[in-house]
Amino acid sequence: MINVILKSVAAGLMMLPVFPCASVMSESATPKIVPGEVWKDVAGDTINAHGGCVLFSEGKYYWYGEHRAAVRPVPQEGVTVYSSPNLVDWTYEGLALKASEKAGDDIEKGCIFERPKVIYNPRTGKYVMWFHLELKGQGYGAARCAVAVSDSPAGPFSFVKSGRVNAGKMPLNLSKENASVRAGEKMEWWTPEWRSEIEKGMFTLRDLDGGQMSRDMTLFVDDDGKAYHIYSSEDNLTLQIAELTDDYLDHSGRYIRIFPGGHNEAPALMKYDGKYWMIASGCTGWEPNEARLMVAESMMGEWTRLPNPCVGENAEKTFLGQSNYILKVEGKENAYIAMFDRWNPKSLMDSRYLWLPVQLNGGAVSVAWIPEWSPSTWW
Ligand code: DGJ
Repeated sequence: MINVILKSVAAGLMMLPVFPCASVMSESATPKIVPGEVWKDVAGDTINAHGGCVLFSEGKYYWYGEHRAAVRPVPQEGVTVYSSPNLVDWTYEGLALKASEKAGDDIEKGCIFERPKVIYNPRTGKYVMWFHLELKGQGYGAARCAVAVSDSPAGPFSFVKSGRVNAGKMPLNLSKENASVRAGEKMEWWTPEWRSEIEKGMFTLRDLDGGQMSRDMTLFVDDDGKAYHIYSSEDNLTLQIAELTDDYLDHSGRYIRIFPGGHNEAPALMKYDGKYWMIASGCTGWEPNEARLMVAESMMGEWTRLPNPCVGENAEKTFLGQSNYILKVEGKENAYIAMFDRWNPKSLMDSRYLWLPVQLNGGAVSVAWIPEWSPSTWW
């Protein structure tokens, strides 16, 4: 009798639909995002797209990110890309940009690819990728940005060039007359005197001839089609916002410095209520810290700092993550998703994704911790 019951239970189980064991239920009626859990693609492989961004194009979302290996020093393969109709079920499309096998190339295998961002330029019909590049064997010393282009969103992207930013150009909000005169000097960090020189652009001037440093970065395209590169510069002490040329392949020469000495990394931007909102992190390597929110009426400033936008469990440590990108949900009014990375420095490949809806209440911006949610029913 027991045998018969067991057999029918087993037969019943075999008839049940099989869901992928990923915590993101890709086949369920309401596909859900479960922040912090392993996120598998539709083939059942763990998504490997860190520090990235999402672009909507030709009826689909494209998620670009850093390929990361399970252990260091296994090199990165390049920038990965996945596509999805609904922001939950992702199909691996391959490497959008591949590390080069040729010794001496800027993106030679062994270099560091970080925070890739892709935007589409309707004037040229090109998809343009910018990312933070560190040259092979130089740690984080090169502090370059790099650009690549493609005719299609899934790539392949062709590498164009890499370098520092706006060599020889002064920021719009720093005049030579008021600037620091101690550009080449070694000063003890964090003293009041040093702070004052940093504010007056001591490092901006140090890097004037060779170009400004560019590490953590994002891109933002405004309603008028103007694109901006926002990056941690000046030894990660100061954010800079640089306008791109009309083809998005270069800097126009116009840029500003914001929050000098503020130690901001991981910028992520959105426009809401006619204002520009930026979430960023402090600088503590792969360790989480408290997020910052900034707001401005114009991209080129003035920017004002607001309190931590995160709310709920681990809000004082950005939910144990770090900001990365804010994606706009297609076809919905004021629907944004804040993307954070929960880094695992022991195995960067196993870093997790924290995607959470941005909450907009009466002109204020916040992000609350939600254990699971569905982009198809949230808004
Ligand atoms: C923090 C940055 O936000 C990451 O992108 C990465 O560069 C790490 N630092 C490296 O320590």
